[in-house]
Amino acid sequence: MNISIQKTTVAGIALAVSMAYGSAYAELTVVSTGTGEVNPPLAPLPKMPVPPDNKITPEKVELGKFLFFDPRLGGDASISCASCHDPGQGWAWTEDFSRGYPGTVHWRNSQTIINSQFLQKQFWAGSASSGEKQARSAARGGVAGNGEADLMEARLALIPEYKKRFNEVFGDEWPLIKNAWRAIATFERTLIADNTPLDAYLGGDKSALSDAQLRGKKLFEAKANCIECHNGPLATDERYYNIGVPTAARWDDDGMAQITFRFEQYAKGTTEEMYRTIKDDAGFYYRSKNKWDKGKFRTPPLRYISYTPPYMHNGAFYTLEEVVDFYNRGGIDEEGNSTSFPETKSALIKPLNLSDAEKEDLLAFLEAFSGDEIEIEKPELPDYAPLFTRAELLEAIK
Ligand code: HEC
Ligand code: HEC
Repeated sequence: MNISIQKTTVAGIALAVSMAYGSAYAELTVVSTGTGEVNPPLAPLPKMPVPPDNKITPEKVELGKFLFFDPRLGGDASISCASCHDPGQGWAWTEDFSRGYPGTVHWRNSQTIINSQFLQKQFWAGSASSGEKQARSAARGGVAGNGEADLMEARLALIPEYKKRFNEVFGDEWPLIKNAWRAIATFERTLIADNTPLDAYLGGDKSALSDAQLRGKKLFEAKANCIECHNGPLATDERYYNIGVPTAARWDDDGMAQITFRFEQYAKGTTEEMYRTIKDDAGFYYRSKNKWDKGKFRTPPLRYISYTPPYMHNGAFYTLEEVVDFYNRGGIDEEGNSTSFPETKSALIKPLNLSDAEKEDLLAFLEAFSGDEIEIEKPELPDYAPLFTRAELLEAIK
């Protein structure tokens, strides 16, 4: 059973469990004391969790790096993981919606790969439970890699360098596509951002944060109450909320974006009525199919955030300043727009009454979640080679 826990800051402690019979999901609501005491503090990163059946070795990381940059793990061999998770764009993509498979546009903002393998569930609505499964669905998804497993596997077999490396790393006689996902996940587990001013401060260097950042930290943890959801080492509770992000404007006037939107309703199995009437991304609802989950998304981590605009699941905001203004208004944008699922909007999101100086301080503190940019030398990809000549083939089938 999958339990999603929500907190609200109403005084007193109450526990309400609403069970949806016949569904695999239940919602458990924990109401905190309103003092913020129950929130785990911001903290240094733990050790990277590694699945026991996919240990990290330098050779596996190296192979995973090749594959992450290799467009042959995609439908038309033109688009790799790095095409939408560009190291020069925060290991993400700096447009509201990500670029899509050629001829399409994606429907959500591309997330950074940095620190992604610390997360229990990946994607904006948490639909992948491991890096291995995530890589597989990214390479195959219709508006992402759009690759066909057998074809991708055949390509790997025709690249002698990969045949050698898969054999050394996994013992494969011929490269197995499932091991490509394991190698990519292993490479991603080495992409860690832990050299931030906040880490230095938490490690005892009290001069690592400026006075403005220290004031901002206080606001984050008290008056602005960001800590209610953005807490712990990654600054996320990994729970799902509707914070009021307005509908993507692109769905009004961009035909290609509308096509993807409709396709996703179908692919994610909404009801016929919803398919015909829905106007916005229902987020976690697609997984739980509970109406109270419409418009909810996983609290994103805040580390590396300076490098990953635009922000939110649909890239609604291009600067952190806009994000802070949005929260200050109580989850409402500059034009007065908010979520198209108002009935599920979190009660935790309300006007904050921050002064201009306080907004500046909060913004300064948000910058303390990012350290140096993580750069990488792109690997030179190995070439194809024919497996056999026509003469050899004729000889073999004699
Ligand atoms: C066409 C663009 C595109 C391609 C190609 C692509 N991605 Fe993504 N990636 C995205 C988008 C957009 C999201 C968010 C999608 C969502 O939440 O529904 C995402 C999400 C992710 C996440 C989740 C991060 C988090 O915080 O939960 C990881 C990890 C990831 N991609 C890795 C990969 C890997 C590995 C590949 C190659 C096998 C890949 N991606 C290929 C666009 C792409
Ligand atoms: C109720 C929980 C909650 C609270 C409180 C909250 N956030 Fe968020 N935050 C979220 C969720 C959920 C999202 C993603 C929403 C979406 O995409 O629809 C988000 C997104 C963000 C993003 C964009 C991250 C990205 O990668 O796109 C930033 C920055 C952010 N929040 C900062 C803050 C700040 C600063 C505060 C305090 C003023 C705050 N949040 C308060 C839950 C919360």
